Order: sequence, then structure tokens, then C-alpha cells
Amino acid sequence: MKPSLVVTLALCHVPSSTLAYPGMAETLADIQARTQAGGSGSGTLEGRSTDLLGDLLSSVATAIGTTIAGILKGTASAVADAVTYKAPGALGSDACNKDKLCVWKYISDDLASSFNGCSDLARAAIRLGFHDAATWDKSSPYGGADGSIVLSGNAELGRLENRGLSPVAAFEKSIYDKYSPYGKPGMADIIQLAANVATVVCPGGPRIRTFAGRKDDSRAGPTGKLPSPVQSAEALIALFQAKTFTASDLVALLGAHSTSRQQFFDPSRAGLPQDSTPQTWDTRYYQETLSVPLDSRSIVVFPSDKNIATYQETKGTWNGFAGVGGQGRWARAYASAYFRMSMLGVTNMNNLYDITRVLPLPR
Ligand code: HEM
Repeated sequence: MKPSLVVTLALCHVPSSTLAYPGMAETLADIQARTQAGGSGSGTLEGRSTDLLGDLLSSVATAIGTTIAGILKGTASAVADAVTYKAPGALGSDACNKDKLCVWKYISDDLASSFNGCSDLARAAIRLGFHDAATWDKSSPYGGADGSIVLSGNAELGRLENRGLSPVAAFEKSIYDKYSPYGKPGMADIIQLAANVATVVCPGGPRIRTFAGRKDDSRAGPTGKLPSPVQSAEALIALFQAKTFTASDLVALLGAHSTSRQQFFDPSRAGLPQDSTPQTWDTRYYQETLSVPLDSRSIVVFPSDKNIATYQETKGTWNGFAGVGGQGRWARAYASAYFRMSMLGVTNMNNLYDITRVLPLPR
């Protein structure tokens, strides 16, 4: 549809049911809602992916499926409202057992107390969420956000790219075991909830909408799907595109390195952060990746990050996050892209349930 036609239709306030062509109503509604959500219609989430995933590709069959499809398509925001949940009773009480959200509230509080101050465990939990989910791409028959990084024992965790994740995997397995008597909360859900709790507990981090009910899988995910810190921009963009992310989504996701301290990429500089404020979810990472040399003794810049920061196709988005007003733009873009990450490989989105309210409020 030509932009001028969209504008004309929008100005006329034509009820969507009266539009002449099949599919046109949806297109117009999408654009209007995206604008309201601060999405690409208003320019703030320009270039984000709007692809559907999993079972939603064949049918958006339920109210929850419709909600998730809206977030994936950008017609609804991935950033949560400031609505919270109060447990109706003690863990294991009748009142708690009757409410699906109750056990999740106890889990969320437990995670938040270990992640406070954007702790080592918090930063690792964000990375664990990514590494569990990103074993999936469009060519994978299985893998994704399925808990396999913990449930497959050492088969997935023992891979080179997962070095450093054992302590957080053991911690999250202990949460899984502890709460298992209370309705068997799944490992995949705990991993994705933990990533979102960690993000919002790190000062400045967005509160990302969170769903539960994924299927767990103890098979180690497919190999060769995770990025390397020395890959070229072209290779990284292709790797993430195969997972339905755009190049702009990749730029937003990389901002997670704002809360990062590398140990294994360069052991001679173990413990050094990727920006000067590793306990804060801020855009200094975008600025300093551009300005700090690769051999700095205070900040370790990954060559992959530098490649994306300076690549023709991605440098505009990068500079947008690094510049004035970048924090809000990045928070929305990250929430949208990470929400997508948390749904990779999930094949029962029509049957998930919303647990966003159990998340802590932003710090
Ligand atoms: C081009 C893609 C990426 C590459 C090459 C990459 C690579 C790395 C490397 C090498 C480390 C340091 C590991 C170590 O030596 O200890 C790291 C840390 C980290 N990564 Fe990434 N990463 C990528 C994307 C992402 C994404 C998409 C996320 C999350 C959405 C993420 C979250 C993190 C976090 C939070 C840490 C810090 C963990 C900690 O401090 O314990 N990364 N990444």
C-alpha cells in the first residue's frame, strides 16, 4: 500500500470492516496501533522485525495468541505497564494453589533477591536466556527457549560458547527443583522469567512482558546457532536474520553488553566490563564501543560489537542509541527484540499465559 493511501484512510477514520480489500483492514489497524505503542509508525522502532513465529504462523487461535501476535508484529508494546500482583496466600496454601500466577510471584521474588544490584548472577541470567533461546533458527526442527541449556546436563552447557554459564544454570536449576512441588513450573519459563527479572532489576532496564507455559525439552539444542565475538557484521546479521531478527533488532539486543563482564573472551583481561557502568542498563555501551580501542586495559570491546557499530547497515541505529534520547529508544527496541528472543522455537504460543505482573517494577 502506498503511504499516501494509508494516510488518506487514517484521516478518514474509515471503520476497518468497510475497507475494500482483504488484508487492508489489518494493515491499517497495525499501523495505527504501532503508532500508539510508540512503534515503528512513530519512527521509534524503525526496522524491527514483525514476523510471526511458531504455531502463530498457522493460526492465531486464542486471546493469548492474539496478544503475543500483536507484540511480535509491533502493534502492541513489549514493555509492560506498571501493574503488579500480590500473592493471595503463602506458597502451598489453597489460595495460592488456585491461582496460576501465585507460584510465579514467589519465584520472581526469589530471583530478584539474588539479582539485586545487577549482580553477577543477574548479568549471567540475561545471557543464559539468550543462549537457551538462540539455538533455534528457521531451519531448526527443535531447539529454542525450551530449557535445554539446563535440562540436557552438560551436553549444551559444556559447549565452548556457554563457558561461564554453569553457576547461573545451577542456580536456576535449584529454583526449578525448589518450586517443582508447587505445580511444576517449567525450566524454559524459569530461564526466560529470570532473564526478564534480571533486566528490570538492573537500574535502567525495561520491564519486558513475560509469558509462561512453554514446553521443556531435555535434548541439547542444535549446534552452530550462536554468534562468535570475532564474526563479521555480515555473518552476524545473517545469523540473526535466520532467527527472524532484523539488523536493527541485533543492534538493540547487543545493548545487553551494557551489563557485562567478560571472563573467557580474553582471559588476560578477565573481569573487565564492556562499558564503564556494568551495573547499569544504560547506553554508555553504545558510546564506548565506538570510542574505546580494542586493546584498552579498562574496557573490553568485542570485535563483533565494533563490527556492528561501524557497519554501513547498522551504524545509523547504533548512533541513534548512543545519542541524545537513546536510552528510551533503546529500552523499547530491546524489549521488543528480547520478547521475540523469548519465543524462539516455542510452538504453543496460543496456550501460554501472561505472568508479566509478577515482575518487579523498574529500579
Ligand atoms: C553478536 C552477538 C553476540 C556475541 C558475539 C556475544 C558474545 C559475548 C561474549 C564473548 C561474552 C563474554 C563471555 C565471557 O568471556 O565471559 C558475552 C557476555 C554477555 N552477553 Fe553476549 N554476545 C552476543 C549477543 C548477546 C545478546 C543478544 C545478549 C542478550 C540479549 C547477550 C548478553 C550477554 C550478557 C548479559 C553478557 C555478560 C554476562 C556476564 O557478565 O556474566 N549477548 N557475550
